[in-house]
Amino acid sequence: MAVTLTIVVTTLLCFLSTASCGRVIVGAKTEISDARTNREVQELGKFAVEEYNYKQGLNNGGGGEALKFVEVVEAQQQVVSGMKYYLNISATDRSGIHRMFTSVVVVKPWLQYKKLLHFEPLSTTHQLQHTSTM
Ligand SMILES: *[C@@H]1O[C@H](CO)[C@@H](O)[C@H](O)[C@H]1NC(C)=O
Repeated sequence: MAVTLTIVVTTLLCFLSTASCGRVIVGAKTEISDARTNREVQELGKFAVEEYNYKQGLNNGGGGEALKFVEVVEAQQQVVSGMKYYLNISATDRSGIHRMFTSVVVVKPWLQYKKLLHFEPLSTTHQLQHTSTM
């Protein structure tokens, strides 16, 4: 009896709240004001650069470390099915020249899932297509 009731209630909640039934709720992008001092944000920036280097390495036969992470200077977050982070990252290239990159990382903490969706030099952001299946 109690079990049946639970199932009925759960099903009902399922109709009322799409969030708990797998439909993706996409929130607004919000600025992370303490990005420069936010340890998690800085870790994500480092992750983005490492992932980018790793992928570059796979593409050109492992040319070593292409970029060195300096810091995330600006960040925004957005609730998707997980959290999406938009990061503006400062890094230095092989010749030690400072460059800015824009990057998108998605995190699903409950799955220990972290993925780099986008990484490119900031100077070309006007052509940025936010390709995402989220
Ligand atoms: C990154 O910088 C660009 C250009 O200054 C800006 O338009 C964009 O909003 C910034 N992104 C983030 C996540 O702060």
